[in-house]
Amino acid sequence: MILPIYIYGHPVLRTESKNITESYPDLDKLIHNMFQTMYHAHGIGISAPQVGLSISLFLIDLTPYHEEDPAIPNIKKAFINPLIIKESGPEEAHNEGCLSIPGLREDVNRKSEISIEYLDVNFKKHTEDIDGLYARVFQHEYDHLNGVLFIDHLSPVKKNIVNRKLIKIGKGKFEDLYPTVLRK
Ligand code: CO
Repeated sequence: MILPIYIYGHPVLRTESKNITESYPDLDKLIHNMFQTMYHAHGIGISAPQVGLSISLFLIDLTPYHEEDPAIPNIKKAFINPLIIKESGPEEAHNEGCLSIPGLREDVNRKSEISIEYLDVNFKKHTEDIDGLYARVFQHEYDHLNGVLFIDHLSPVKKNIVNRKLIKIGKGKFEDLYPTVLRK
């Protein structure tokens, strides 16, 4: 089932997510639906707040990128209760977009290497040191769980420039490519 994606301006995107346990109802179904929603909207990552749920869960699928560039890991999975334990390496600028901010793309500076911890769908704990596109997308999705959006990383000057566009997006003035939910 394709779920509607919550759009910039909706308070759920600014709400801190809570960790979940194995008893969370219909988790497999939710993850399945989130994958479907992400593919339908042509995303490479999606977080639970973007489908209206303040829980600590996101998905990443880098498989199309891996096919083009074997240096990019073949990651397609759900990350439950994830954490960034350490950030290192230089800051790098990379163009980012977000399914909750349709039509806007900007360069965002982020750390190039991170150490992460998360549970998989079987609630098995993993620890990894990651970099490149994987680290980039992980940080973007992890931000969502803390109510942070990529635009929050822009300089004040840049933020001023995109602000008018953000107001329009919040009012639903964007190309209608997938089902969405706006702030009431
Ligand atoms: Co996003």
